[in-house]
Parts: sequence; C-alpha cells; structure tokens
Amino acid sequence: MSNYHIKHLEEYYQVYRKSVNAPEQFWEEIAEEHFLWYKKWDKVLDWDFTTPEVRWFEGAKLNITVNCIDRHLTTNASKTAILFEPNAPDEAAQHITYQQLHDRVCQFANVLKAKGITKGDRVCIYLPMIPELAIATLACARIGAIHSVVFAGFSATALATRINDSDCKMVITSDGSYRGAKTIDLKGIVDDALEECPCVSTVLVAQRIHSNVDMKSGRDEWLQPLLDAAATVCVPEVMDAEDPLFILYTSGSTGMPKGMVHTTAGYMVYAAYTFKNVFQYKQNDVYWCTADIGWITGHSYIVYGPLANGATTLMFEGVPSYPDFGRFWSIVEKHKVNQFYTAPTAIRALAKEGLELVEKYDLSSLKVLGSVGEPINEEAWHWYNDNIGKKQSPIVDTWWQTETGGIMITPIPFATPTKPTYATLPFPGVQPALMDEAGKELKDNQVSGRLCIKFPWPSMARTIWGNHQRYKETYFSAFENTYFTGDGALRDEVGYYRITGRVDDVIIVSGHNLGTAPIEDAINEHPAVAESAIVGFPHDIKGNALYGYVILKDVGESRNHDNLRKEINQIITEHVGPIAKLDKIQFTNGLPKTRSGKIMRRILRKIACNETRNLGDTSTLLNPEVVQSIMDNVL
Ligand code: WTA
Repeated sequence: MSNYHIKHLEEYYQVYRKSVNAPEQFWEEIAEEHFLWYKKWDKVLDWDFTTPEVRWFEGAKLNITVNCIDRHLTTNASKTAILFEPNAPDEAAQHITYQQLHDRVCQFANVLKAKGITKGDRVCIYLPMIPELAIATLACARIGAIHSVVFAGFSATALATRINDSDCKMVITSDGSYRGAKTIDLKGIVDDALEECPCVSTVLVAQRIHSNVDMKSGRDEWLQPLLDAAATVCVPEVMDAEDPLFILYTSGSTGMPKGMVHTTAGYMVYAAYTFKNVFQYKQNDVYWCTADIGWITGHSYIVYGPLANGATTLMFEGVPSYPDFGRFWSIVEKHKVNQFYTAPTAIRALAKEGLELVEKYDLSSLKVLGSVGEPINEEAWHWYNDNIGKKQSPIVDTWWQTETGGIMITPIPFATPTKPTYATLPFPGVQPALMDEAGKELKDNQVSGRLCIKFPWPSMARTIWGNHQRYKETYFSAFENTYFTGDGALRDEVGYYRITGRVDDVIIVSGHNLGTAPIEDAINEHPAVAESAIVGFPHDIKGNALYGYVILKDVGESRNHDNLRKEINQIITEHVGPIAKLDKIQFTNGLPKTRSGKIMRRILRKIACNETRNLGDTSTLLNPEVVQSIMDNVL
C-alpha cells in the first residue's frame, strides 16, 4: 500500500526518504493504486536535464476526465463536484453533482467535436469564473484538445499574443463578466484581439450578463443552444501519458510570455496526490480555493486536483470586497468551507478592514488554511492564523510555480509544525537545492541561495510551446543539471525553507507574475516616451507595486506630467491589463546603464525602495552621474 495519505511527521519523513531513495517505485505505487489507466506504463521515468527531456509513465494510456469524473459516478454520482457561488450574494449558488458534471462536460465535448476540434488542437478559453470555465477545460481534456486558459483580466493585445503563439483554432468566451459592482465586456475584448488572430475560426459565447454583443456571422455562436442539443455521452479520447493536456502562459524576462506545456499522466498524479495531502481532504469536506482558473493555482487546485479526489470544489465568481469585505467569510459560513486556500495579497487587504467583518461569521468549519503566490509576511500570517484559523487550523504556506504544475514546498497539516513565513519542507518527490552564484550547491543548513530542484517530479512542465530552446535557457542553463526556479530561498537550522522572492526580472504584484519587459514595451509605445524601466517596491497590500522610470523624448517639451502618467497607465492597461498599472512614474533624463548598454535595475530598485545608503558598486556604469539626479527626484 502506498503512502497516499500522510498523517504525521514521522510518516512524512519516511515517505519522503522513500520518494528520494526509490523515486520510480514511489511514484509507480501511487499511480497504480489511485488512478484508472487504459494501459499501464512501460517505464516510470526517463529524463535528461541537459537536453532537457523528461517523460513520466511513458507508454501509459489514460484520460484525465475519466479519473476526475467518470470513476466517481459509481459511488458519488449525486455528490456535489462543483459548488458555484455567484458574484451577487442574492443569486442562488449552484450545486453541480458529479453526474451533472459528467453530462455537461460530455455535451461540451460533443460541441467542440462538432465544430471540428480534434485531438491536439489548441482551444483558447477566455471566461470569467463561471462553471462553463471548468467545464470547458474538462471538455477539451475529454477529446484530447489542448486548452490554453487566458485569465479574463488580460487585455486584447495580451490575449491576441497568447492565441497566436499557440495557434488556437477556437476561442471560448462569454458576453461579459461580473466583477463586484462592475461588468466587463469580455466579448468586445475578444473581438478586438481577433482582429490580429487569423488562426481562429470559431468563437463560442456563453451568456452571463445578457448584454448586447456583436456576433460575427460565420465565426461566433451562442454556446447554450449548442449544448442543449448535444448528447450527454462522449467517449473519452485515449491519451498517451505524455500527450499535452494544457498550455498556460506565464511572464518571463522578455516580452513574449512563456507557454508552459503540461502533459497528462504526471500532471494528474502529482496534482491529485498533493491535493490530498496538502489539504487533508476528507469525503464530504467542502474545499475552496479563491484563485482564478486563469492561473495555475486554479488549474491544479480548483479543477484537476480536487476532482481527481472526488472532492467538492467551490468556485467563486466575485471579488473579496463585494458587496463588502466580509464576503469571503460569509461564503465560508454559508457553505461550511473546510479548507480555504488564498493569496497573501487578499489576506492583507482583508486584514486592513477590521475584525467586525470577520467576527460576524461562523468560521468554525475551517480545518486547514492555505497561502500561495508570494511570500506571506509575518503580520499577515499571524492575522490569518489568529482571526481566521483561531489558532486551530494549520496554515499551509505552499510554494510552487506555473512551471512546477503542483505544490513543491509546503507543510503537511497536522504533520509538519508550521513556522510563520516558512514554506517549510519539500513535498515527497521534490529534491530542492540551494546554489551560490558560482553554481556550487550549498549543502549546509542556515544558508541562503538560489532555489533549484535537482530531480524530476511528475508534474513539471515539459517545454515552452514552440520554443524548447527558451525552455532550456530559462530553466536548465543557469546551473548544471538542475532546474532553476528563479527564486531565492534560505534554509534554516532544521531544514525548513523560506522563499525570499524572485531573483530575476519578474515582479509579483498582488500575487500576479509580471515580467518587466512587456510593461516597458507598452510604455515605450507612447509617442512621448523614449525609454523606460520598471522595478518593484514594497506595498502594504499588493506585496509589490510597480515603479516606472521614464525618459521622455523631448525634454524641452512641457507636457503636463500628470496627464502623461494617466496616458502611460492607459497604454499599459490596453497592452497588458490593468493589473500591470504603475503606482509611481518618475520622469528622468537618463537611466543607469552598464557599458554593454544594459539597464542596471538593481540600482533603480534600491532607489525606488528608498535603500540608497548602500547602492553597491556603481563604478561599472557608463553614466554614474545619472544616479544622483534620479535620487534627487525620487517620488
Ligand atoms: C512565488 C503560483 C513565496 C514565487 C503557484 C514563484 C511564492 C512564483 C509562493 C510563481 C510562496 C508562489 N511563498 N513565494 N508560498 N508561492 N510564490 O507561476 O516567486 O503564478 O516563483 O505560480 O510565485 O508564480 P506562479
């Protein structure tokens, strides 16, 4: 019997040791005992980090939706699979049972087939957090189409870039979305994006806000009538273990987002096994992850991980502040939520609002609290622990990435003693290493370095869509024979890890990964802008906010700076999305550059963070005089 469910610390260490000493046997046992396969694998693992190539469960045949839906029908057909809580508190929640989920996924899959989608085709999903979003992803998986979900807060330009990069044939969207008191015209954004996307021949439109939208004849169709006419049975496509399941874009240090490719079997096994252990899910629990399915957290821990375990997964359409800042807690009370998984930025925003909005609600159903997306600061950790968990519910501070597919470093609740701001111990199968800048592994405790993973785990992304070379350069070239995460971390005296943050040009704002390059590219589109550089600076709620240094083309021109700032943020909103707007914009005559012409962001970051006492070595700068002038005018 494999150790599918870890219950105490000694057991964790035992399981962990086995996962490192005999990884293939370890994962094979889990895969064999807890999933349905049409055919078992010929080989558990094949890997080479130099090419790099990783294959898990090669030769196996399966369909992930059979594991997430069909196999639960014999015992749990009438159990709620998806519990949908709408944006407006007075709109009724929907309980979608496993049987209903099966039928709706099959209907959707049949619609996709009827529209000519076949195995391997890419389908872009641009939907708000409504049940159709989860159902659309599963429908793609049912027929072997590769879904590419784009977060419905991205702009038309960002959407078009992603659609074109993976050559999507179809876009699934809605007329619009609710976001608190506002509505957003999603269909209009899709229409704008598609002007640049010749690859898309079909757009399916779900009706959510009942707005008047333009339907382009021959391309656009309302979804519901097609679903109503479709059969509720759809034979699952038989997939190879290493067939792509989805593409999900994440920011990188250049302008193009990286389409991370996740494959079927390893991803399924790892998402399911981590879900079970990290949240200690028990039959009849109600589990809620507040992320959006547009991010990896939603893929792995709203859709695939929970459903593979036959769980009830809550999907919330709205925002934490609507109709007031008590909404999360009212939902916990209303649906008696047992596991609650959110981001530090949300915790900080809610902590600011005072305790009355927490104390009004009965939170006694909660057993486990989770945190993800960025380092959780000590104050937020204690507020969460004291006021939401009442010091009874362990906090799992889960470190992972779009690229890792599943949670990598985390406490196991009721087994691992927690420690504020520490993600604590590696999950079974995960072999972290800290490296110094010269590429030497730091083997002792009480060291800090760059966080790497030395051995493959089943849910690691296999490549970047269409650019394997970039995959190799980004993740496998900084350090020899090891995956580099882009994060810095320290290990304490007992071996607990604390993630200290990104060490590259990615900035995490409100839990969203933003690359500096696409934002700078957007700013530079403004006719008055010559050059720009973005850095992060600490922000009470967002974790980091963005600080832009902008050089204008004609210094003599006296344009109103406040208007320019508004215009720059408008361009960013159009090109990237509102999440990437700058909090501060400083106009400057120059940017510190190295002799090879690279902007020294390190110096700009220190100035923006008000840490100018020790700017480090500026002697290699081409133009050291510019530093003082930037410091004199800092905002
Ligand atoms: C950061 C989100 C500290 C980290 C699942 C990582 C964290 C990036 C944590 C990935 C955490 C995520 N503590 N930092 N618990 N979780 N991060 O791809 O910098 O959106 O590299 O995946 O978020 O963000 P992504």
